[in-house]
Amino acid sequence: MKMERTFVMIKPDGVQRRLIGQVLQRFEQAGLKIVAMKFLAVSKELAEKHYEVHKGKPFYEGLIEYITSGPVVAMVIEGQNAIERVRQMVGATDPQKAMPGTIRGDFCQHIGRNVIHASDGEETAKKEISLWFSEEEIVDYKMDDDRWIYE
Ligand SMILES: Nc1ncnc2c1ncn2[C@@H]1O[C@H](COP(=O)(O)OP(=O)(O)O)[C@@H](O)[C@H]1O
Ligand SMILES: [Mg+2]
Repeated sequence: MKMERTFVMIKPDGVQRRLIGQVLQRFEQAGLKIVAMKFLAVSKELAEKHYEVHKGKPFYEGLIEYITSGPVVAMVIEGQNAIERVRQMVGATDPQKAMPGTIRGDFCQHIGRNVIHASDGEETAKKEISLWFSEEEIVDYKMDDDRWIYE
């Protein structure tokens, strides 16, 4: 299995609803590793770049408003098969369809307030990581318990 990095963001509703700790706990307890993290207010420019693929869709304007409505927590998460693993932990885009046990399935109700973002594939992960973080902000380090997490 491949060691991967993925981009994750706790959206403004996640911050406002004080879910940062609970969301981070899930990634930590799964054995994933945080290699970059920051708390920031998202500019309209950054939001538009991040959601470029959705430009023109009926929910686009509302989505930009939502993501710029308050601070977010942006991070890079590393682990074997991390891109797919994190997407599974996040759950379906529409919380009504997200399985219980997933973050969206456990914490939200509406597709327009779904608490978290995670990259959906290798290409997007690469693009999103470089959009949100400079190389110096991503930290290469070893976890002490790696040999108990991976065979
Ligand atoms: N029909 C919709 N109504 C409102 N917001 C939506 C809708 N579809 C998508 N969104 C918002 O746009 C984000 C990006 O959509 P998409 O890339 O399809 O989902 P995901 O975040 O699961 O990758 C969603 O997480 C959600 O916040
Ligand atoms: Mg997406």
